[in-house]
Amino acid sequence: MSVRHFLTLMDLSAEEFRTLIHRATELKAMQRKGELYEPLRNKVLGMVFEKSSTRTRVSFETGMIQFGGSAIFLSPRDTQLGRGEPIEDSARVLSRMVDVIMIRTYEHEKIETFAQYSKVPVINALTDMYHPCQLLADMQTYSEHRGDIRGKTVTWVGDGNNMCHSYINAARQLDFKLHIACPEGFDPTPEMLKAGRDHVEIIRDPMAAAKGSDLLVTDVWASMGQEEEMVRRREAFADYQVNAEVMAQAHTDALFMHCLPAHRGEEVSSEVIDAPDSVVWDEAENRLHSQKALLELLLVK
Ligand code: CP
Ligand code: NVA
Repeated sequence: MSVRHFLTLMDLSAEEFRTLIHRATELKAMQRKGELYEPLRNKVLGMVFEKSSTRTRVSFETGMIQFGGSAIFLSPRDTQLGRGEPIEDSARVLSRMVDVIMIRTYEHEKIETFAQYSKVPVINALTDMYHPCQLLADMQTYSEHRGDIRGKTVTWVGDGNNMCHSYINAARQLDFKLHIACPEGFDPTPEMLKAGRDHVEIIRDPMAAAKGSDLLVTDVWASMGQEEEMVRRREAFADYQVNAEVMAQAHTDALFMHCLPAHRGEEVSSEVIDAPDSVVWDEAENRLHSQKALLELLLVK
């Protein structure tokens, strides 16, 4: 039997993606009511983190505990992964012990190799290329506040990074229009733009891109692993802040999202992130519920 992995949003069918969003909202209601639901009793999630995390770690660990299972945190600092044990060998060993593995790493190829040698499902908890788990939460949040996103317009302001790539995939899957306002030299990869050509448009000016939008999204100017580029990026992105002026171009009921952590005064103004249209706290909470829905999809037959 082949193992089902979740390395990008394209590993789901469009229908599965929609069902998962609704299931996440259902699981949220069950948890709020204090209903006990433990489909993963005695199951163990291995969590490999080669980069820092607050939300991803806590949401996966909490989700496993609420589902009756448990999670093990593994960092390269204190495992053999950090001392050069081959990915193939680590995948073979870990997947003989745990029931599902979550990985946050740098090169996307690394998680692909790991998945190839794993006997259990592998979940992408962020690579340099994609952050699909965050999109499950973002799409759940949009659906809870505004209903179906099909046919709506989303504007991405900032770097054509891992989050932007996952927004391109979400636009393809859920059929919304995506405007990308990024400075030249910081575009999504040509392959991603080609794949998303029916849904994506690059509009360099954030004010023009935000016009008529239903959702504005941004992210840090320098992602994890790009710390040394920070100074150069601050200059390049100086005109790419989501502030009240940019928000004013969008529809009056437009929402604001950010995967967090945020830098107020850089990619977003305090005024915008702390305004009522900003749903960043729901978005962060929904990491928990949507990942529980994902774990259920991958593990509960
Ligand atoms: N948004 C997100 O993935 O946050 P963490 O880096 O804290 O996990
Ligand atoms: N683009 C950011 C997302 C953090 C959740 C990064 O990769 O650091």
